[in-house]
Amino acid sequence: MRIYYDEESRLIFIETKSTTMCLAITDTEGFLNNVYYGIKIQRDDLRYLLRTGVGPFVPSVNERDRGSYLDCARFEFPSSGAGDYRPSAVTVTDDKGHDVSQFLYKSHRIYEGKDKLFARMPEGVDVRMPSTFDVKSGAETLEITLSDDVLGLEAKLSYSVFEDSDAIVKSVKLINKSDSPVTINRLHSSSLDLDRGVWGDKTPDVVTLSGTWARERHIDRRSLSRGNVEVYSTRGETSHQFQPFMALCDKNAGNDHGKIYAQTLIWSGNFLCGSSMDQFDNIRSYIGINPEHFAWDLKSGESFQAPEAVLVYTEKGFDEMSHIFHDLFRDHLIRSPYLHRERPVLINNWEATYFDFDTDKLINIASEAKKCGIEMLVMDDGWFGVRNDDNSSLGDWTVNEEKLPGGLKVLSDKLEEIGMKFGIWFEPEMVSPDSDLYRLHPDWAIAVPGRKPCRMRNQYVLDITRSEVRDHVYKCVSDILKSAKISYVKWDMNRQLSDLGSEGLEPGSMGRLSYLYTIAVYDLQGRLLEEFPDLLLENCSGGGARFDGGMLFYSPQIWCSDDTDAYERLSIQAGTEMLYPLSTMGAHVSASPNHITGRSMPFDVRCAVALSGTFGYELDITKIPEEDRGAIPEQVEIYHRYGEIVREGDYYRIASEAETDYFDAWMSVLKDGTRALLTYVQCKAYPNGKGRCIKLKGLDPDAVYELNLIGTERDDSLFCGREKKKAWEDLAPGALSGDTLMNAGIILPLLPGDYAQMMFEIKRLA
Ligand code: GLA
Repeated sequence: MRIYYDEESRLIFIETKSTTMCLAITDTEGFLNNVYYGIKIQRDDLRYLLRTGVGPFVPSVNERDRGSYLDCARFEFPSSGAGDYRPSAVTVTDDKGHDVSQFLYKSHRIYEGKDKLFARMPEGVDVRMPSTFDVKSGAETLEITLSDDVLGLEAKLSYSVFEDSDAIVKSVKLINKSDSPVTINRLHSSSLDLDRGVWGDKTPDVVTLSGTWARERHIDRRSLSRGNVEVYSTRGETSHQFQPFMALCDKNAGNDHGKIYAQTLIWSGNFLCGSSMDQFDNIRSYIGINPEHFAWDLKSGESFQAPEAVLVYTEKGFDEMSHIFHDLFRDHLIRSPYLHRERPVLINNWEATYFDFDTDKLINIASEAKKCGIEMLVMDDGWFGVRNDDNSSLGDWTVNEEKLPGGLKVLSDKLEEIGMKFGIWFEPEMVSPDSDLYRLHPDWAIAVPGRKPCRMRNQYVLDITRSEVRDHVYKCVSDILKSAKISYVKWDMNRQLSDLGSEGLEPGSMGRLSYLYTIAVYDLQGRLLEEFPDLLLENCSGGGARFDGGMLFYSPQIWCSDDTDAYERLSIQAGTEMLYPLSTMGAHVSASPNHITGRSMPFDVRCAVALSGTFGYELDITKIPEEDRGAIPEQVEIYHRYGEIVREGDYYRIASEAETDYFDAWMSVLKDGTRALLTYVQCKAYPNGKGRCIKLKGLDPDAVYELNLIGTERDDSLFCGREKKKAWEDLAPGALSGDTLMNAGIILPLLPGDYAQMMFEIKRLA
């Protein structure tokens, strides 16, 4: 039993492999408080933790019951307007305009398994929301019902744990049991109160992932002080700018040590994620849909489901935190049949041709790619309507026969003849003002009547919350997929939402739009996978603006960033890997100089960095230097040989350039400890340096391993080269125990020049 209720003390213990969360129902008032979340402890009577001993000016409902000191107690579902002045988890306005609520314990139940989450579309259809599920180990769920009897509102708080995970997943549903409507202005999926004392005499650090287009998910770290630290999206997608992620950690927490409380949200739309510290050193961490652009009119009898939040606690640093997220996502969130499969090595024509392509060009690229061992051609933007640049045709999903005579069938047949799979790009949620669709249905774009909506990349967003628009969009995609042999779809979304107005929503309900938009995307992708269960779906949003747990429920991989510069990718991928498994990270080798940064880098280094993700190429293979083309067969071979380690293994950070000043290194280790992969990238030449000691991680201390420099198997290897081989042979140790490799480490040679790589297979011998 992992969830346990003690009737006498009215304490509920939620336990994972190594953590305990303890909720307390206070005696006098029936508040639900969180008295403990941390490393696993005994199921002791923790009610003493309710007694906070606060000063005279703190509001309370009851002078005796310390758990009711409203502005100080550790509330599990803090409401607003009744004396707790910290960020609330729920704000509701009644039909008179009062925005006071107070949710008290009513009942709870504990059950085996875990329920699915659903959201209702305006036409009355229930759409499944992405959330974790259970396949191999039994999940256990606690559902607590809280009630505000004045409002006639119930809140169902749901907590699930899995046998094989140290994460706790949480969600909240509000139900209007009264005869009057209310408006939900804020509903967080999780709110966690902690005492700063957890960190001793220090304040914690806050770690978030932030960026912009072509610079997504850089790791950001600063100290928490009084007030709020928040990251958020109001863009209708999770965004390039911030991830729905925040970790509170020890000041000195590092990759393999330190306490961390981390949270994320399984959601692809607007979110708010924050931590606040108040005058009593109480810390409140919260995550949920963003109250900005949100107001949900909840009518009598209706319910509203907030997305699922994930909480992780560890005392073993960031590697362990990442392992918990990675395993949870791989084992309990990603549904694709491709999750554990080797993905086809693809070549995408975007950076090769942009809009300027035709069947012949594509077939030339595909034929050359086939010779090199590449397995799939992905035709990117520009194959439909009259789209020769990004000014037109989104919405007109008819094949441009000037570029592709005979249509997709001819192209896909030709590809099949060559022995290549075929993938295609779509941007189904959008419409160009210059398109037949927009000319026919201008009202299908999201806009406020009387206002000219802003354009981004010269396009509008279709109002897919309307069922007729959604059905049309779905049919366009489905018809195309049925018209030819298509194995893969890259589903793009290249602008953010603005001008939130929908002709499909009742007047007064526009505050529903951004939430429903996200649900509509889920509906479309859910339908697609139901009709085409073998389709390999890759999500994308102007690079990586919709890289989130919600999308992983549909696609096992997401395009990480439009920035394919391998040096830039080091920080983008390191941030992405904080949360997401390497197997989900779309990563391609592109041309040099790089199209975004203009930086030139050796081909093997570009390959080594892309090998940490789904791996593919994004260049004109017919135009790259002969030597680079000649290297591809070996690179593809390396991917096939070691792909499993990246896909299934545990990821460890060894060193980052930000700290070492000149190199980056990381590892993946198969869970059974038999094989591992070490990637070392030297970012710049380092004068008068020496060989660098690297301590390996994640190995079995008692096993014996050998280290093999990858790319030495062939005399003509272009991946490693003779010089590197020789430099390594001078320093290479013989077979060593995992213990030695992890504690004494190995010495890697200093390599000549800027940008160089070495990859090692670490193989267990005994
Ligand atoms: C976005 C994607 C790119 C490419 C273009 C096409 O920017 O991230 O990979 O597909 O759109 O317009």
